[in-house]
Amino acid sequence: MMKKTLLLIGLATSLSWTACQNQANKTTTDTELSDSGFTATIDGQEAKLFTLQNSKGAKATFTNFGARIVSLWVPDKDGKLTDVVLGFNKAVDYHNPEEPYYGTIVGPFGNRIAKGKFSLDGEEFTLPTNNGANTLHGGFKGVHFAAWEGKQEGENKLTFSYTLPDKNEGFPGNIAMTVTYTLTDDNALEIAYSATTDKKTVVNLTNHAYFNLNGEGSGTILNHSLQIYGDQYTPVDSTLIPTGELAAVKGTPFDFSQAKTIGRDIEQKDEQLRYGGGYDHNFVLRGDKVDQLNHAATLIGDKTGIKMDIYTEEPGLQFYSGNFMAEKVTLKNGKKDAFRTGLCLETQHFPDAPNQTSFASTVLEPGQTYTTKSIYKFSL
Ligand code: BGC
Repeated sequence: MMKKTLLLIGLATSLSWTACQNQANKTTTDTELSDSGFTATIDGQEAKLFTLQNSKGAKATFTNFGARIVSLWVPDKDGKLTDVVLGFNKAVDYHNPEEPYYGTIVGPFGNRIAKGKFSLDGEEFTLPTNNGANTLHGGFKGVHFAAWEGKQEGENKLTFSYTLPDKNEGFPGNIAMTVTYTLTDDNALEIAYSATTDKKTVVNLTNHAYFNLNGEGSGTILNHSLQIYGDQYTPVDSTLIPTGELAAVKGTPFDFSQAKTIGRDIEQKDEQLRYGGGYDHNFVLRGDKVDQLNHAATLIGDKTGIKMDIYTEEPGLQFYSGNFMAEKVTLKNGKKDAFRTGLCLETQHFPDAPNQTSFASTVLEPGQTYTTKSIYKFSL
């Protein structure tokens, strides 16, 4: 009898110890997303959740509402999976005009167009101005608020398709777009974009994921180390429209040509930093080639050791240090979107290119196909 009781006590203790261990291994970012939170009707459109995984255990979830990355789990220095992309627990939370860009594809023209105007062949197009005097990320109803069609191929590839109707937010052309996400076995998330149009238009697609390589909700990104493979950036006016100049980063807070922490120079007295409230600028990539792509940036989380390398076909990289994050929304793990707790590194053509003749063209003509690819590769 005694033996049996002891055995039972022993078993119970070891079970509760295991439970504790599991608890201890659970991190604050270890959120399980429920399909039900993502099966929703938004603005009459059907949203759902898609999951990709690779053979190494990395995992990513997406919603077709905006063709968004919802979460991205990669191993840290202790082998623990960490969710490095900020987002929400429910699809409807993404339908928020106050914070519309978490994880989303932005388009048809990512970044700003000055005063909501541009001309093609002498015809002027007027767009709604949703960012002070300017148009940002395709206007109020860019592709971020559209339910794309999602088609998954196997465990690691997912293609979203959407045709933006002619004159949506003033942009000419029925613009047919696809975005393919592939989670490869070397822990890279590849994003391949394509677009065609039936009227001459402008296209500049990018992904607007907010990253925190220490994990969503783990504090600010100011101690992340960042290197950007560019010697110039495009200075802006007070409304964040490029002046047209390509300025040297050398000797300025914008010099990320050698790795440094994001926080090192962010509080310097500098007119450009003042305009952006921190970094909110486009860097001109030098064109250091890795497998025919431009090496754009290397970002390292100081707590997890997670390293993210970005490679792209694009000539520019917008670095936005989360300066407008202001605890307005609650993220997946219950934490608020506090000031600078995420950052965006958006591969793209230069802002306001439709109005700046010295910048590489973003014009897309009928009969042409726009294609571009960016890779976010994770290692330690
Ligand atoms: C822009 C920021 C803007 C942010 C919104 C970035 O791409 O550069 O100015 O506030 O998007 O999420």
